Amino acid sequence: MAIKLNHTIVHSNDKRAAAGLFVDLFGLPAPVPFGPFLDVVVDNDVTLAFMDADGMDVQTQHYAFLVSDAEFDEIFGRVKARGLAYWADPGRTQKGSINHHYGGRGVYFEDASGHLLEIITRPYGSELP
Ligand SMILES: [Fe+2]
Repeated sequence: MAIKLNHTIVHSNDKRAAAGLFVDLFGLPAPVPFGPFLDVVVDNDVTLAFMDADGMDVQTQHYAFLVSDAEFDEIFGRVKARGLAYWADPGRTQKGSINHHYGGRGVYFEDASGHLLEIITRPYGSELP
């Protein structure tokens, strides 16, 4: 068995704004239209299919991305350059700081629809180096 997450729908208030912000922050190619979706593929071949909520309330979800140290610097740099709020914790109590769980770095910020995005340089549960 090799069960791999293949795609998930990212409900968005405005799929163009949401997908556009996502690829800008993460340094990915432009979103690709597919039916009602705007698809963004991350490096482990998971497709994030941004879709307009069409008037429905967007239920906030959490999406976490494992990145290299260099990618963390780039993405976090773009988060700060845009003046986006960021937090060290998912409860959003530690505004303006990052965490160092498992000997790495992690930070949370919101996408254009309020979904909580997270970038980490070490997976949860990693042994300390
Ligand atoms: Fe998380």
